[in-house]
Amino acid sequence: MRLSSIVSLVALLFAGPAYADAGLRDRAKELFEPIPSAPPAIPGETATPEKLALGKMLYFEPRLSGSGDVSCADCHNLSMGGVDGGKLSGGHNAQLAGREVLTVLNAIFNKSQYWDGRAANLSDQVVNSVMANPKAMLKTRGGPMPINTAEHAIAKQRAVEQFKRIPGYVAAFKQAFPEQSDPVAYDNIGRAIALFEATLITPDAPFDRWLKGDDQALSEAQKDGLKLFVEKGCVTCHNGVNVGGGMYARFGVVKQPSAEFLPPDDLGRFAITKAIADKYAFKVPSLRNVELTTPYFHTGATFDLKKAVAVMGESQLGVALSADETDKIVAFLNSLTGRQPEVVLPILPPRTGPPVAQAQ
Ligand code: HEC
Ligand code: HEC
Repeated sequence: MRLSSIVSLVALLFAGPAYADAGLRDRAKELFEPIPSAPPAIPGETATPEKLALGKMLYFEPRLSGSGDVSCADCHNLSMGGVDGGKLSGGHNAQLAGREVLTVLNAIFNKSQYWDGRAANLSDQVVNSVMANPKAMLKTRGGPMPINTAEHAIAKQRAVEQFKRIPGYVAAFKQAFPEQSDPVAYDNIGRAIALFEATLITPDAPFDRWLKGDDQALSEAQKDGLKLFVEKGCVTCHNGVNVGGGMYARFGVVKQPSAEFLPPDDLGRFAITKAIADKYAFKVPSLRNVELTTPYFHTGATFDLKKAVAVMGESQLGVALSADETDKIVAFLNSLTGRQPEVVLPILPPRTGPPVAQAQ
């Protein structure tokens, strides 16, 4: 996003109502993109119906976890915007302290995965992180954890053994990866889940319908909110198809937020890059469906979207937004809620023998 386009947009906004929607829309189109109506392709990966079916089963499969009782869907509930509604929120349950859940909805459009970007794409996310440490998956809620340790190797192996003992899964992996001689493999779990996740997109948000030319799709307050979002500078970080998800930024660029929002012990992207500039830098989250994805921030420190917007104004831009401005920005953010994916629950194949013993 070039500074010049912000400046010219600001000029345009003050030029008067004669421009109406057309001018604002032209500029908005330079900054944002609608969610496509069909799932995007994953490079080098063909989305066959068999792979998608397997990916969906694994997404809902508690036997993927070390304890055998937590699935992706438990923390990324597709009835709740792809998050858990703060059920296990760090600030609310000390034992589960970690980071707030990020939604799987539209995650395919993010440049990297996790608050600190430690996974490059969706299949890496599955293979190297959350499930690779099934105990930590519950304890830290998928928060920062070392990857590729001996412990992870054992946990992955155990998951594979588990599925090899379930005939329904042996058949499903074979159908999904017919070219492989030993298809029940951990990498294939990641590939199949990633393909399923790529279908979890939310097209047709009012904002997208407006971007495509429907003047009626946004209320006047929402259009005012969009103007403020651009004018005040929110767009320097929250832009593109996901209205975020494309870069990292320090939380507290202008003013350090309170420890409730930014606890000193989580250094964010610094833990990955060890670059001083990355201290307290986090991935700029997507604001798609933000009205559904409470609570907010990597800490889950607030359930109130107005509060989150006010904190952003102060910490990232050094502006105190008025109550009216905050209301309008929130009205705009609510126009980012798209059509939620319709998912028919899969029937998971039954065990025909006892489970493999618990991972240590
Ligand atoms: C116990 C809760 C929990 C479970 C189970 C869980 N996740 Fe997550 N997930 C999280 C948390 C918390 C984060 C954010 C962690 C971070 O950024 O450090 C996250 C982040 C993600 C992200 C990154 C999204 C983004 O925008 O960066 C994806 C994708 C994801 N999880 C997919 C999955 C999949 C697939 C599974 C099952 C294989 C799964 N998760 C299981 C809690 C969970
Ligand atoms: C300099 C970059 C930057 C600017 C400018 C910025 N943000 Fe953010 N925004 C971020 C980052 C980084 C986070 C994640 C902070 C965290 O939790 O660590 C975030 C988080 C958020 C969240 C919480 C989303 C969630 O799911 O947790 C909202 C809402 C938000 N921003 C809205 C805004 C609004 C509205 C503006 C303008 C008033 C704005 N942001 C300006 C970088 C920015």
